[in-house]
Amino acid sequence: MENFRVHKSKPLEGSVKVNSAKNAVLKVIVATLLADGKHVLENVPNLSDVRVLADILRYIGSDVDYNPATGKMIINTKIERCNPPYELMTKMRASFNVLGALIARRGHAHVFLPGGCQIGTRPVELHLKGLRELGCEVVLDHGCVQATAHTLKGKHMFLDYPSVGATENIMMAALFAEGVTIIENAAQEPEVVDLSNYLNQMGAKITGVGTSRIKITGVKQLNPSTYSGIPDRIEAGTYMIAAAITRGKITINNVIVEHMIPIISKLREAGVKIETGTDYIKVDATGKLNKINIQTLPYPGFPTDLQSQMLAFMTTLDGNSQVKETVFENRLMISNELIKMGAQISVEGNRAFVTGTEKLAGAKVEALDLRSGIALILAGLIAEGETEVYNIHHIDRGFTNLEEKFKALGADIIRN
Ligand code: EPZ
Repeated sequence: MENFRVHKSKPLEGSVKVNSAKNAVLKVIVATLLADGKHVLENVPNLSDVRVLADILRYIGSDVDYNPATGKMIINTKIERCNPPYELMTKMRASFNVLGALIARRGHAHVFLPGGCQIGTRPVELHLKGLRELGCEVVLDHGCVQATAHTLKGKHMFLDYPSVGATENIMMAALFAEGVTIIENAAQEPEVVDLSNYLNQMGAKITGVGTSRIKITGVKQLNPSTYSGIPDRIEAGTYMIAAAITRGKITINNVIVEHMIPIISKLREAGVKIETGTDYIKVDATGKLNKINIQTLPYPGFPTDLQSQMLAFMTTLDGNSQVKETVFENRLMISNELIKMGAQISVEGNRAFVTGTEKLAGAKVEALDLRSGIALILAGLIAEGETEVYNIHHIDRGFTNLEEKFKALGADIIRN
């Protein structure tokens, strides 16, 4: 079974360039369904999720031409079918966003519940409730959503939780609805803002994205456009933590500093020196560091997608640190894998209590999801001996040229 073999490495040094954000690009690819014609997307990262989503669009009827080497994706949108197959829909979470797009364009969709990282139950009731508020008839039966809407009417609605996916699905479903839709307690993640920017470029009338109150004024139709992704704040944060855990010095290029505030602030609190520029961050972790606590929250709080990486880092800090995971109920499972490496972690409910250890020991460990997989690689960089990380298909969903980028920083990592 394919794995990464990681050996204890010197403090990482050098510079690294961040790719476009997976969780923004995937939604923009789905958004191309909202306008027939030729869309041109640049800097589309070569991820397995991107390739699967391209196949979903091809099944629906679009012509998708993707060049992984240049990152250019040309999509000629056409909608012939509204029932993408189970084996594609269950490969990731973002596929579920085709529901809102197909409802907006065709008034009906037959969509299987999505797959994605097993970090919790990940229900979809907020998505379905929002579609019903717009006038959709929605039946969820045997793991499949059957949605139909004769007319879609704008509605003033409240999201029980600022769900990223639900905000995006409702926003897309409301684009051609009669009148105005207001989503209160909407998700504020930068990736939601990036999606709405693309939709507005296509002719949508969306305001307030990036705040908790989004307003969508229905329009008659949209036109295809061009797109170039925002930098991936989670990939950038991961390299910052890689510098911190190895006590190295790394410059991370192609970042939007404003999106990095939570991780900048927490690493500075731990004693890491951080200098920010227009589109780069310099991390220097060569000095004395101290323990910290983190709590994950919806944006602008600390991102849950950096929690596992921080947990690995916290095992190297003297004293007792704490992680409180408030977004996904099952996202502390990585603790068991780190404990195999000698970490001292105890988990009680949604809290992990970490006692800093002198050193970790290499072991055979399993990536449980995309982010825990990368966190285990970070732990392997400082563990004595060899660490073998299995189930690395999870990691390939979210990081491109991972081993090349880490090797260039001095990491001893081999893909087997
Ligand atoms: C998106 O997932 C991201 N994935 C996740 O990144 C990210 O962790 C998450 O947002 C939070 O930022 C993509 O964009 C593809 P949510 P999503 O709906 O949309 C609960 C990664 O590693 N909820 O905001 O699924 C849900 O169970 C991935 O790149 C409901 O209860 O996240 C969770 O506890 C992992 N009912 C919380 O809300 C619903 O109907 C946040 O979920 C929907 C969500």
